[in-house]
Amino acid sequence: MGAAIALGERGRGLTAPNPNVGCVIVRDGRIVGRGWTQGGGRPHAEAMALADAGALARGAHAYVTLEPCCHLSPRGPACADLLVEAGIAEVSVAIPDPDPRMRGEGVLRLEAAGIRVANGLHHEPASRSMAGFLTRIRAGRPYITLKLATSLDGGIALASGESHWITGPEARAHTHLERARCDSILVGRGTLDADSPRLDVRLEGLEQRSPHRLVLTRHQAPPGWESLAAPEGVFALTGINDLLVEGGASAGAAFLRSDLVDRLMLYRAPILIGEGKSGLGDIGLGSLADAHGRWRIAESHVLGIDRLEVYERVREGC
Ligand SMILES: NC(=O)c1ccc[n+]([C@@H]2O[C@H](COP(=O)([O-])OP(=O)(O)OC[C@H]3O[C@@H](n4cnc5c(N)ncnc54)[C@H](OP(=O)(O)O)[C@@H]3O)[C@@H](O)[C@H]2O)c1
Repeated sequence: MGAAIALGERGRGLTAPNPNVGCVIVRDGRIVGRGWTQGGGRPHAEAMALADAGALARGAHAYVTLEPCCHLSPRGPACADLLVEAGIAEVSVAIPDPDPRMRGEGVLRLEAAGIRVANGLHHEPASRSMAGFLTRIRAGRPYITLKLATSLDGGIALASGESHWITGPEARAHTHLERARCDSILVGRGTLDADSPRLDVRLEGLEQRSPHRLVLTRHQAPPGWESLAAPEGVFALTGINDLLVEGGASAGAAFLRSDLVDRLMLYRAPILIGEGKSGLGDIGLGSLADAHGRWRIAESHVLGIDRLEVYERVREGC
């Protein structure tokens, strides 16, 4: 299932509004088929893996990161039917599909055909990998990551406004990789005016994966940008699983005030800025007690001379 999740990661940022599913088919202890959801959301991972396995799929074990679909679509067959037709003997599923059309029917269809099904294998990493799709279905908005590159003392720019560059090339390349995994990217109008950021992906081989660009502004957006008039505008965005917010201080704070940030990516450089621009404006805290218990650390990495810490919002029931 770990290999299936890794395959699914290849589609992240390309499959919306569909999920980035991965699938591995194993027979006699060997992987005979691999697949992941293709750009635009079709073909699905199971269809790709079954085509890869061919006749070797008969009697094999399929590992799928999301419950196979069972609804008819003009864009392709239902994956549960494909698995049955291919003669798969056993299916392991990481997470049930929260799509209201499903209601567990994908698994029921497999079981009705005599396929053994195991649920919940690697549930947590699979949920993380498909957090965009899951959040869109459950909350009606994209999964939102706020990225900040700060000094050790939390500064994002000098008092003069100079902010290029806080972090080193490894951390900046990592940000570009994260951009490639998102469907849309947003900055505040202040950042757009100050930095004229391109917000594209400048990694060899991934240039085509530059996400759609949004600017948070109460005014009209310049050509080439779509405007979002308030953070709550994310509920009206369609076809976006993952949104990356790249600052600045007011835009990031506005998303936090509305409790719309699911993940923080904090790149911290070994420099001090002192009096300058701090990473965040008013996030609407009433007391210090309100600040505690909201974030849990999920990852920590050293990137060149910088450090990346990733935090996830602690939400009830999650
Ligand atoms: N180190 C980093 O990671 C990093 C990242 C990004 C930026 N920066 C730096 O941060 C600085 C810019 O930050 P900033 O705080 O001045 O500007 P900002 O956050 O980029 O943009 C502020 C603008 O966003 C819009 N906005 C904010 N809250 C809003 C809301 N609730 N609803 C609708 N629109 C809203 C407003 O635009 P309108 O006035 O048009 O309505 C506001 O003027 C620059 O120096 C930049 O270099 C650093």
